[in-house]
Amino acid sequence: MRRKFVAGNWKMNGSLAALAELDAIGAAVTDTVDVAVAVPATLIYPASQRARFPIGAEDVHANDCGAHTGCVSADMIKEAGAAFSIVGHSERRQAQGETDADVKGKAEALRRAGLHAILCVGETLEQREAGEAEAVVTAQIRASLPEGAAGDWLSIAYEPIWAIGTGKVATVEDVEAMHAAIREALGENGETIRLLYGGSVTAENAAGLLHAANVDGALVGGASLTAAKFIPIIEAAR
Ligand code: G3H
Repeated sequence: MRRKFVAGNWKMNGSLAALAELDAIGAAVTDTVDVAVAVPATLIYPASQRARFPIGAEDVHANDCGAHTGCVSADMIKEAGAAFSIVGHSERRQAQGETDADVKGKAEALRRAGLHAILCVGETLEQREAGEAEAVVTAQIRASLPEGAAGDWLSIAYEPIWAIGTGKVATVEDVEAMHAAIREALGENGETIRLLYGGSVTAENAAGLLHAANVDGALVGGASLTAAKFIPIIEAAR
């Protein structure tokens, strides 16, 4: 039985004042749905001190230490209070040129540190229109998933790039088809791995997406920034 998992991703948003949202979100957390929020690196420590649920990072370096100016390691985010990190978000794959190999290295670094990874995959609009979406995403899974990945330390977020921040949500049918393809690509070891959907999830569309076949949760961007928008999504997962 895979428990529903609703994770927020604040991206490059938020401030110390905005952490007040975590108080209201925490008040809505029950033991039936796992809730977590990834915040900018500078907010990990204060957010983790304040939140009644796991706080994570949005990225991490694959190496444990060394000459990597501007980067933070898995042990560093752990010391700051992170319980997990997102890796391979499309905004990083596209803007920072991260490869599947890079993403795999980051997920392995989290594993070494005892932290959970939310590993993102997803196709572009051009790839979907060319009928290549499932091939692209399952290839990303095969190339970026660490050996022996299991649900207690890794989740996968399917985020079609064309649905992120655009208000264009994927249909429940498209999400079910993709999640079935991902589940098959994972093989029998993948039964424990939770598959989240991400891309313009809102209070209005959450229930349909969260209860679709093979959908174990959501990775929520814009609607995770305020408790008023995020709490209904958590409630929809119940
Ligand atoms: O990580 C979250 C996703 O990029 C989705 O963002 O909910 O703002 O579309 P969004």
